[in-house]
Amino acid sequence: MSEPILQARGLVKDYWMGAARLRVLHGVGLDVGRGEFLCILGPSGSGKSTLLHLMGLLDRPTEGQVLFEGEDAFARPKRWRDRLRNEAIGFVFQFYHLMPDLSVLENTLLPAMIRTPLVRWPLVRGRERRRAEEVLGDLGLRDRKGHLPTELSGGERQRAAIARALVHRPRVLFADEPTGNLDTATGGEIMRVLARLNRKGLTVVMVTHDERLARQAHRLLHLVDGRLLQRP
Ligand SMILES: Nc1ncnc2c1ncn2[C@@H]1O[C@H](COP(=O)(O)OP(=O)(O)OP(=O)(O)O)[C@@H](O)[C@H]1O
Ligand SMILES: [Mg+2]
Repeated sequence: MSEPILQARGLVKDYWMGAARLRVLHGVGLDVGRGEFLCILGPSGSGKSTLLHLMGLLDRPTEGQVLFEGEDAFARPKRWRDRLRNEAIGFVFQFYHLMPDLSVLENTLLPAMIRTPLVRWPLVRGRERRRAEEVLGDLGLRDRKGHLPTELSGGERQRAAIARALVHRPRVLFADEPTGNLDTATGGEIMRVLARLNRKGLTVVMVTHDERLARQAHRLLHLVDGRLLQRP
C-alpha cells in the first residue's frame, strides 16, 4: 500500500440508551492508502455509517484514534479538526442532503459561503463561482446548474452532491451508500464517477451493502457486527 493518508486504530463506539450501553464498533483498525479506492461492505446495522463518521471526523470515538496524515485528530482541538474537515475532507450521503430551495450552483457554493467570513465573500465570490462551475461541468451538470434539486433525476442529484463535496478540493472523499437510493444503472454511473475521480488522485472511502458495486473498488473490507472480518 502507498503511504497511508488515514489510519484508524482500535476504534470503539458506544451509544447509551438510558443506562444500557450499545457497543456499535468493537476496536476497528485499518489503513487507507493515499490514492486508494477502498470499499467497506456490511449489512444494515453493522456500523458502516458510524465508522465513516469517525474516520471523517464528524463524530468522536469512545476509544481509539484516527490518524489523518499521521496526526492524531482527536488529540487536537475541535477547531483543528473543523479546519481539517473544511479543507481536506468531502462527504457524500445516500439521500444527497441538497438544500431544496437552492439551485444546483447555489448548493455547490454553499460550503464556500459558510466557510468565508461575510465581509470577504464579495472578494472571493467570482473565484468560488468559477470553481463551482468547473466542478459541475466536470460532472456533466453544466446545463443543470440553474435547476432546483427537485428538477433533477436521482443520478443528477447525487452528482450535484458530489460536486458540492469536491469544490474545496478535498484529499479524501467519504461516500456513505452513495448509490443506495438509485436504480442499478444509475448506481453504476455514480460508481464510474467515483472511479474516475479516484484515477485523478482522490482517495475514496465508500461504505455500502451492495457487494457487486463494492467489488469495483481497489480493496474490499467486510464489516460485520462492528468488527472487520480478518481475511487470509
Ligand atoms: N445515535 C445513535 N444512538 C443510538 N444508536 C445508534 C445511533 N446511531 C446508530 N446507532 C446504532 O448503531 C448501529 C450501527 O448503526 P450504523 O448507522 O452505523 O449502521 P449501518 O451499517 O450504517 O447501517 P445501514 O446500512 O442501515 O445504514 C445500529 O444498530 C444503530 O441502531
Ligand atoms: Mg448507514
